[in-house]
Amino acid sequence: MVRHEQQQLLPAFSTLALHPSILSLIQRLRTVLMMTSRISLAALFGIASLAICKAPVFFYGRNSTPTIHEVYTFPVNTSVENLAVRPGGEVLATVDSAPELYQIIPFSSEQPTLVYDFPGYESLLGIVEVEEDQFYVAAGNFSVFTLESTKGSYAIFHVDMSSFRATRGTVQSQAVIKKVTDIPEGELLNGLGLFSREKGLVYVADSGTGIIYLVNVRTGAYWPAIHDALGVKGDPYPFYPAVNGVRYDPRGRAVYFTNVAQAVFARVPVFANGSAAGAGEIIASGELYDDFVLDEAGNALVAVFGSSDVIRIDAATGESMIIAGSLNSTDLQAATAVAWGRTRRDSHSLYVSRNGGIGWPSAVGGAVMRIDMY
Ligand SMILES: *[C@@H]1O[C@H](CO)[C@@H](O)[C@H](O)[C@H]1NC(C)=O
Ligand SMILES: *[C@@H]1O[C@H](CO)[C@@H](O)[C@H](O)[C@H]1NC(C)=O
Ligand SMILES: *[C@@H]1O[C@H](CO)[C@@H](O)[C@H](O)[C@H]1NC(C)=O
Ligand SMILES: *[C@@H]1O[C@H](CO)[C@@H](O)[C@H](O)[C@H]1NC(C)=O
Repeated sequence: MVRHEQQQLLPAFSTLALHPSILSLIQRLRTVLMMTSRISLAALFGIASLAICKAPVFFYGRNSTPTIHEVYTFPVNTSVENLAVRPGGEVLATVDSAPELYQIIPFSSEQPTLVYDFPGYESLLGIVEVEEDQFYVAAGNFSVFTLESTKGSYAIFHVDMSSFRATRGTVQSQAVIKKVTDIPEGELLNGLGLFSREKGLVYVADSGTGIIYLVNVRTGAYWPAIHDALGVKGDPYPFYPAVNGVRYDPRGRAVYFTNVAQAVFARVPVFANGSAAGAGEIIASGELYDDFVLDEAGNALVAVFGSSDVIRIDAATGESMIIAGSLNSTDLQAATAVAWGRTRRDSHSLYVSRNGGIGWPSAVGGAVMRIDMY
């Protein structure tokens, strides 16, 4: 039911909207996908009935009625791409419609503070914390309006937030920003995920080539660690970015990732050194899954760009359950990433970044929202 409105998402990318032939091709592919994917149909029915019932979801051992709250909304055409939470609870938000990193203080009326505007780049994408208050971001030239990306423009930067002080939106003491390395082979460096805090190893997903790199953030060395058939571009949306979010699950020694082009959420086993140890397998499919986090049991909480919601995918069964949001609402419109709160006040809250639906008729500003689970 909810998914009937999905053609709305297609004009998300204005270039595609300009080409009716591409649009209709995508629509046909989407129909084929929906008709042939049993998993996605099963998920569809489950999701639709939940959304209609408006029943509380049974979530982490209790009935919960998640509620969505605005943390901060940027103007239309500012796309918030990813986020991370500092140890003190401040939210760091990357913007991909400009090369900007913001700090937003939840539960306060303060304006966001621009932490840094990366000169020579057009976008910031993934962000990950390695050691305490030490963050790493991907920067490069990407257009949220055309989806064009400049190969060879990407780099990974270290953002040391420990020195950062700001009051009421004004920076008192700067963060220390240093380039870790350029990745000239990169076509569209997107999601970042921690592999080893001790060794300073971070996964970097290239949505262009489908390669997931490991980057040693201490030395700047990097190498392709995972190049799986489920990570590369392909049907049903060959024009869309491929591998996107990437997370390591140490208990299962596996890497989970999303691929927008193939509309899959997948898992690949890895060796102790983080390289692929086998072929990937599909856990769930049929949605434009964006970035995500794993919970303690290895289930995924996923921002779904295409359906403007956050879902939980059961790692064992692949079943999807909507946590919050819908195509019916702009709250999580074009949701891009999620991150858990880290303070007593928001430990049951999930922060969500949204693009706002750039190019959609219903476009709203990019934002950071908060889902209170109960
Ligand atoms: C957003 O950007 C598009 C494409 O550049 C432009 O047509 C539109 O007017 C912009 N909307 C706002 C509210 O600035
Ligand atoms: C990326 O974009 C910036 C700003 O438009 C430009 O100065 C820079 O040359 C571009 N980099 C590459 C590699 O094209
Ligand atoms: C990672 O470990 C596997 C298995 O031991 C090995 O075959 C592979 O060469 C290693 N890769 C790197 C980059 O060290
Ligand atoms: C859509 O919005 C209407 C009106 O607010 C509401 O009654 C309905 O339950 C919503 N549907 C979904 C699927 O959320």
